[in-house]
Parts: sequence; structure tokens; C-alpha cells
Amino acid sequence: ARFKLLGISGSLRAASFSTAVLEAIKAALADKAELTVYRLNDVPLYNQDEDTATPPAGAAALRAAIAEADGVIFSSPEYNFGTSGAMKNAIDWGSRPYAKGALLGKPVLVVTSSPGSTGGIRAQAQLRESLTAAGARVAVVPHVAVPAVAEKVKDGAFTDDKTKNFVLSGVEALITEIRFVEHLKKGA
Ligand code: FNR
Repeated sequence: ARFKLLGISGSLRAASFSTAVLEAIKAALADKAELTVYRLNDVPLYNQDEDTATPPAGAAALRAAIAEADGVIFSSPEYNFGTSGAMKNAIDWGSRPYAKGALLGKPVLVVTSSPGSTGGIRAQAQLRESLTAAGARVAVVPHVAVPAVAEKVKDGAFTDDKTKNFVLSGVEALITEIRFVEHLKKGA
């Protein structure tokens, strides 16, 4: 596939819907893009004392995975009207060193989901803000939020075309950002 995407799940639990959404995107993409699903279980809490030339292995691996990807999908649950601590922590690692972070200039897509009816839209807003602070190129529209996710994703696939096409339109917006960045680099 032409585009190499990284899909970071904001949930650490094995049966996570946030992770399941990424698996469903991976299945739906076919050969449009390659998606590697990344779980944050081995990433320690950000500690500036440990953010040296040799950061903890879990943090270094996350940074390398972000750096190597053409674009990153942040698939997040909503915890208490915000993103999960694990996801915010990943952005903090990805944002540093200041002005040289792996997320700087990186095309990203925010996807939120919830078994509830609001689809994690408040986590969506918070993630956009933090990713913007990190200097990422956030795909602006659509806001990909999946409510009632327990019924929308099953056995590694989307259960209906409406949800699938909506989420894929977000991936399309991410690919547009990737092409734009490639275009800028060519002109430089
Ligand atoms: C939740 N949940 C939740 N859902 C929601 O729509 N808005 C919210 O603010 C919250 N808050 C919240 C806080 C905490 C600490 C937990 C554990 C859960 C429910 C949440 O959407 C549900 O547990 C999802 O299944 C979590 O995502 P994963 O683990 O399936 O990816």
C-alpha cells in the first residue's frame, strides 16, 4: 500500500472498542493504506526527568512508530468528558522534545467512540486541542465519532455501511493531509 498509517488506541483493555474500531478500519481499508494497530500498555507515564537522550523503551518505541508513519489515527474512548489518561500521555511523549517532537507536522485523524449516544465528542474536542498544541496537522473535517459502538463494530468489522463509510471518509481526509505534506516537502 502507498500510505503507512499508525492507529493508536487510547484504551489499554483487551476487549476495547477503541481498539476494535482500529481493527475494523484496517479491514475496511483493503489495499488503500496499511494500518498498524498500536496499543499503549508499555508506555510509562511521562516524566520530564526521564525524557533524556535515552528515554524509557516504551516511550522511544512509541516515538519511533509515530515518526515512521505517514499519518496517525488516534482512536479514543471518552473518560469523564475527556480523552483517556493513556492517550493524553502518548501525546505528551509525542510532543517532545519541544519543536522536534514526533507529532510535529504529522498528519493525524481523531476518531472517538462510545457505547453511549454521544460518541465521545468531548474527548474528540480535547484531543484536537492537544494535538494542535503538539503541532500535528489535524484533519479538520469530518469529526469522526462513533456512538453506540457496541452495535457498530463486531468481529473485526463495521456492522453497517453508514458507519463504515463515515469512518473511511475520515481516513480519506487524513490521506489528503498526507498528500498535502508530501507536496510541501517536494516544493521545499
Ligand atoms: C467511561 N465511559 C464514558 N463514556 C462516555 O461516553 N463518556 C464519558 O465521559 C465516559 N466516562 C468514563 C470514565 C471512565 C473512567 C470509564 C472507565 C468509562 C464509558 C466508556 O465509553 C466505555 O467504558 C468504553 O467501552 C471505554 O472504551 P474502550 O475501553 O471500550 O475502548
